[in-house]
Amino acid sequence: MMRNIIAANWKMHFDLDTAIQTALQMKEELNGFNDVELIVCPSFVFLHPLSSILRSSNIKLGGQNLYFEDKGAFTGEVSAGMLKSVGCEYVIIGHSERRHIFSEKDIDIQKKVRKALEYNLKPILCIGETLKQRKENKAFDVVERQIVSALDGVDLSKVIVAYEPVWAIGTGVAADRQTVEEMHNFVSNLLDDVPILYGGSVKPENSYELATINSVNGFLVGTASLKTDSFKKIIEEFKKAKED
Ligand code: 13P
Repeated sequence: MMRNIIAANWKMHFDLDTAIQTALQMKEELNGFNDVELIVCPSFVFLHPLSSILRSSNIKLGGQNLYFEDKGAFTGEVSAGMLKSVGCEYVIIGHSERRHIFSEKDIDIQKKVRKALEYNLKPILCIGETLKQRKENKAFDVVERQIVSALDGVDLSKVIVAYEPVWAIGTGVAADRQTVEEMHNFVSNLLDDVPILYGGSVKPENSYELATINSVNGFLVGTASLKTDSFKKIIEEFKKAKED
Protein backbone atom coordinates (compact mmCIF):
# COMPACT_ATOMS: atom_id res chain seq x y z
CA MET A 1 0.00 0.00 0.00
CA MET A 2 1.19 3.52 -0.80
CA ARG A 3 2.38 5.61 2.16
CA ASN A 4 0.27 8.57 3.19
CA ILE A 5 2.19 11.74 3.94
CA ILE A 6 1.06 15.19 5.05
CA ALA A 7 3.69 17.90 5.20
CA ALA A 8 3.54 21.45 6.51
CA ASN A 9 5.55 24.04 4.62
CA TRP A 10 5.81 26.99 6.96
CA LYS A 11 7.70 29.02 4.33
CA MET A 12 9.05 32.34 5.73
CA HIS A 13 6.60 32.63 8.62
CA PHE A 14 6.82 32.93 12.41
CA ASP A 15 9.42 34.16 14.86
CA LEU A 16 11.18 31.79 17.23
CA ASP A 17 8.54 31.98 19.97
CA THR A 18 5.64 31.33 17.61
CA ALA A 19 7.47 28.50 15.89
CA ILE A 20 8.16 26.85 19.25
CA GLN A 21 4.61 27.35 20.50
CA THR A 22 3.13 25.96 17.29
CA ALA A 23 5.45 22.95 17.34
CA LEU A 24 4.54 22.24 20.99
CA GLN A 25 0.84 22.46 20.15
CA MET A 26 1.21 20.21 17.12
CA LYS A 27 3.18 17.68 19.12
CA GLU A 28 0.32 17.45 21.57
CA GLU A 29 -2.63 17.69 19.18
CA LEU A 30 -1.35 15.45 16.40
CA ASN A 31 0.03 12.60 18.43
CA GLY A 32 -2.78 10.18 17.58
CA PHE A 33 -2.12 10.11 13.84
CA ASN A 34 0.19 7.17 13.49
CA ASP A 35 -0.77 5.89 10.05
CA VAL A 36 0.07 9.14 8.24
CA GLU A 37 3.67 10.39 7.99
CA LEU A 38 3.60 13.94 9.36
CA ILE A 39 6.34 16.40 8.49
CA VAL A 40 6.93 20.01 9.49
CA CYS A 41 9.27 22.15 7.38
CA PRO A 42 10.03 25.38 9.25
CA SER A 43 12.55 28.06 8.40
CA PHE A 44 16.19 26.91 8.74
CA VAL A 45 16.69 28.99 11.88
CA PHE A 46 13.97 27.10 13.77
CA LEU A 47 15.12 23.61 12.86
CA HIS A 48 17.41 23.06 15.81
CA PRO A 49 15.01 24.07 18.60
CA LEU A 50 12.16 22.23 16.88
CA SER A 51 14.23 19.12 16.58
CA SER A 52 14.46 18.80 20.38
CA ILE A 53 10.73 19.45 20.73
CA LEU A 54 9.67 16.97 18.06
CA ARG A 55 12.26 14.26 18.77
CA SER A 56 9.88 12.26 20.95
CA SER A 57 6.86 12.76 18.68
CA ASN A 58 5.34 11.36 15.50
CA ILE A 59 6.18 14.58 13.62
CA LYS A 60 9.30 14.54 11.47
CA LEU A 61 11.37 17.51 10.48
CA GLY A 62 12.20 18.77 7.00
CA GLY A 63 14.17 21.63 5.47
CA GLN A 64 12.65 23.90 2.83
CA ASN A 65 15.69 23.86 0.57
CA LEU A 66 19.39 22.96 0.51
CA TYR A 67 22.47 23.78 -1.51
CA PHE A 68 24.04 21.04 -3.61
CA GLU A 69 27.65 21.48 -2.48
CA ASP A 70 28.98 19.76 0.63
CA LYS A 71 30.62 22.84 2.14
CA GLY A 72 32.65 25.91 1.27
CA ALA A 73 32.38 29.58 0.43
CA PHE A 74 28.64 29.75 -0.33
CA THR A 75 27.45 32.60 1.85
CA GLY A 76 23.85 32.26 2.94
CA GLU A 77 23.44 28.65 1.84
CA VAL A 78 22.66 25.53 3.89
CA SER A 79 24.05 22.09 3.08
CA ALA A 80 22.50 18.63 3.25
CA GLY A 81 24.94 17.70 6.03
CA MET A 82 23.82 20.70 8.06
CA LEU A 83 20.17 19.71 7.69
CA LYS A 84 21.00 16.17 8.72
CA SER A 85 22.95 17.40 11.74
CA VAL A 86 19.94 19.31 13.11
CA GLY A 87 17.61 16.34 12.81
CA CYS A 88 16.02 16.68 9.38
CA GLU A 89 14.82 13.55 7.64
CA TYR A 90 13.21 15.30 4.67
CA VAL A 91 13.86 18.30 2.48
CA ILE A 92 11.62 20.19 0.07
CA ILE A 93 13.36 20.65 -3.26
CA GLY A 94 12.36 22.72 -6.28
CA HIS A 95 9.42 24.52 -4.70
CA SER A 96 7.81 26.83 -7.24
CA GLU A 97 8.84 29.83 -5.13
CA ARG A 98 12.45 28.68 -5.44
CA ARG A 99 12.02 28.13 -9.18
CA HIS A 100 10.24 31.40 -9.90
CA ILE A 101 11.45 33.93 -7.32
CA PHE A 102 14.99 32.59 -6.97
CA SER A 103 15.44 31.36 -10.55
CA GLU A 104 16.31 27.77 -9.71
CA LYS A 105 16.77 25.71 -12.83
CA ASP A 106 16.03 22.04 -13.49
CA ILE A 107 19.75 21.28 -13.37
CA ASP A 108 20.09 22.85 -9.88
CA ILE A 109 17.12 20.84 -8.73
CA GLN A 110 18.62 17.64 -10.11
CA LYS A 111 21.83 18.29 -8.16
CA LYS A 112 19.88 19.06 -5.00
CA VAL A 113 17.86 15.84 -5.21
CA ARG A 114 21.06 13.83 -5.64
CA LYS A 115 22.77 15.60 -2.76
CA ALA A 116 19.78 15.05 -0.47
CA LEU A 117 19.79 11.31 -1.21
CA GLU A 118 23.56 11.11 -0.72
CA TYR A 119 22.97 12.38 2.84
CA ASN A 120 20.01 10.10 3.40
CA LEU A 121 17.50 12.95 3.37
CA LYS A 122 14.19 12.18 1.66
CA PRO A 123 13.56 14.77 -1.03
CA ILE A 124 10.05 16.15 -1.48
CA LEU A 125 10.37 17.19 -5.10
CA CYS A 126 7.91 19.92 -6.08
CA ILE A 127 6.64 20.06 -9.63
CA GLY A 128 3.87 22.02 -11.30
CA GLU A 129 2.99 24.27 -14.20
CA THR A 130 2.23 27.99 -14.31
CA LEU A 131 -1.14 29.29 -15.46
CA LYS A 132 0.38 30.39 -18.75
CA GLN A 133 1.76 26.91 -19.36
CA ARG A 134 -1.61 25.36 -18.55
CA LYS A 135 -3.43 27.74 -20.90
CA GLU A 136 -0.97 26.84 -23.64
CA ASN A 137 -1.71 23.13 -23.03
CA LYS A 138 1.83 22.53 -21.86
CA ALA A 139 1.07 21.38 -18.29
CA PHE A 140 1.83 17.71 -18.89
CA ASP A 141 4.99 18.43 -20.88
CA VAL A 142 6.27 20.79 -18.20
CA VAL A 143 5.61 18.35 -15.38
CA GLU A 144 7.19 15.48 -17.30
CA ARG A 145 10.27 17.58 -18.03
CA GLN A 146 10.59 18.56 -14.37
CA ILE A 147 10.33 14.92 -13.29
CA VAL A 148 12.67 13.46 -15.86
CA SER A 149 15.27 16.13 -15.26
CA ALA A 150 15.19 15.95 -11.45
CA LEU A 151 14.94 12.19 -11.08
CA ASP A 152 16.99 10.81 -13.94
CA GLY A 153 19.05 7.88 -12.65
CA VAL A 154 17.88 8.34 -9.07
CA ASP A 155 16.81 5.61 -6.61
CA LEU A 156 13.12 6.38 -6.34
CA SER A 157 12.48 4.45 -3.15
CA LYS A 158 13.23 7.48 -0.96
CA VAL A 159 11.62 10.11 -3.18
CA ILE A 160 8.34 11.93 -2.58
CA VAL A 161 6.77 14.13 -5.25
CA ALA A 162 4.46 17.08 -4.63
CA TYR A 163 2.31 18.32 -7.50
CA GLU A 164 1.76 22.01 -6.83
CA PRO A 165 0.18 23.89 -9.73
CA VAL A 166 1.72 27.35 -9.41
CA TRP A 167 -1.62 29.03 -10.08
CA ALA A 168 -3.25 27.35 -7.08
CA ILE A 169 -0.60 28.24 -4.50
CA GLY A 170 -1.60 30.85 -1.95
CA THR A 171 -4.83 31.76 -3.76
CA GLY A 172 -7.30 30.04 -1.42
CA VAL A 173 -8.64 28.11 -4.40
CA ALA A 174 -7.22 24.65 -5.00
CA ALA A 175 -7.11 23.02 -8.43
CA ASP A 176 -10.37 21.22 -9.18
CA ARG A 177 -10.80 17.52 -8.69
CA GLN A 178 -10.47 16.58 -12.36
CA THR A 179 -7.28 18.59 -12.85
CA VAL A 180 -5.66 17.07 -9.78
CA GLU A 181 -6.75 13.55 -10.68
CA GLU A 182 -5.51 13.79 -14.27
CA MET A 183 -2.11 15.10 -13.26
CA HIS A 184 -1.66 12.69 -10.35
CA ASN A 185 -2.55 9.75 -12.59
CA PHE A 186 -0.12 11.04 -15.20
CA VAL A 187 2.67 11.36 -12.63
CA SER A 188 1.97 7.99 -11.05
CA ASN A 189 2.26 6.39 -14.49
CA LEU A 190 5.71 7.93 -14.84
CA LEU A 191 6.79 7.09 -11.30
CA ASP A 192 5.79 3.71 -9.99
CA ASP A 193 5.48 3.47 -6.22
CA VAL A 194 6.39 7.09 -5.48
CA PRO A 195 4.01 8.90 -3.12
CA ILE A 196 2.45 11.94 -4.82
CA LEU A 197 1.24 14.80 -2.64
CA TYR A 198 -1.02 17.60 -3.79
CA GLY A 199 -0.24 21.18 -2.77
CA GLY A 200 -1.92 24.50 -3.53
CA SER A 201 -4.55 26.02 -1.22
CA VAL A 202 -5.26 22.80 0.65
CA LYS A 203 -7.53 23.65 3.57
CA PRO A 204 -10.01 21.86 5.85
CA GLU A 205 -12.90 22.62 3.45
CA ASN A 206 -11.37 20.94 0.40
CA SER A 207 -9.15 18.24 1.84
CA TYR A 208 -11.81 15.52 1.99
CA GLU A 209 -12.66 15.84 -1.69
CA LEU A 210 -9.03 16.01 -2.79
CA ALA A 211 -8.21 12.98 -0.65
CA THR A 212 -10.92 10.89 -2.33
CA ILE A 213 -8.66 10.86 -5.40
CA ASN A 214 -6.83 7.52 -5.34
CA SER A 215 -3.56 8.87 -6.65
CA VAL A 216 -3.43 11.63 -4.03
CA ASN A 217 -1.20 10.14 -1.35
CA GLY A 218 -1.07 13.20 0.85
CA PHE A 219 -0.74 16.96 0.92
CA LEU A 220 1.91 19.65 1.08
CA VAL A 221 0.19 22.44 2.98
CA GLY A 222 1.27 26.08 3.19
CA THR A 223 -1.04 28.67 4.76
CA ALA A 224 -3.36 26.19 6.49
CA SER A 225 -0.39 24.50 8.18
CA LEU A 226 0.44 27.59 10.21
CA LYS A 227 -2.40 26.91 12.64
CA THR A 228 -2.61 23.64 14.52
CA ASP A 229 -6.41 23.54 14.27
CA SER A 230 -6.60 23.78 10.51
CA PHE A 231 -3.64 21.46 9.97
CA LYS A 232 -5.23 18.88 12.27
CA LYS A 233 -8.57 19.16 10.49
CA ILE A 234 -6.87 18.57 7.14
CA ILE A 235 -5.28 15.39 8.48
CA GLU A 236 -8.62 14.22 9.88
CA GLU A 237 -10.43 14.89 6.61
CA PHE A 238 -7.70 13.14 4.66
CA LYS A 239 -7.91 10.06 6.87
CA LYS A 240 -11.70 10.02 6.71
CA ALA A 241 -11.66 10.12 2.91
CA LYS A 242 -9.10 7.32 2.67
CA GLU A 243 -11.04 5.15 5.13
CA ASP A 244 -14.51 5.72 3.58
P1 13P B 1 -0.69 27.23 0.19
O1 13P B 1 -1.23 26.03 0.92
O2 13P B 1 -0.58 28.45 1.04
O3 13P B 1 -1.40 27.46 -1.11
O4 13P B 1 0.83 26.86 -0.20
C1 13P B 1 1.06 25.67 -0.86
C2 13P B 1 2.51 25.44 -0.94
O5 13P B 1 3.21 26.13 -1.66
C3 13P B 1 3.08 24.36 -0.12
O6 13P B 1 4.40 24.09 -0.47
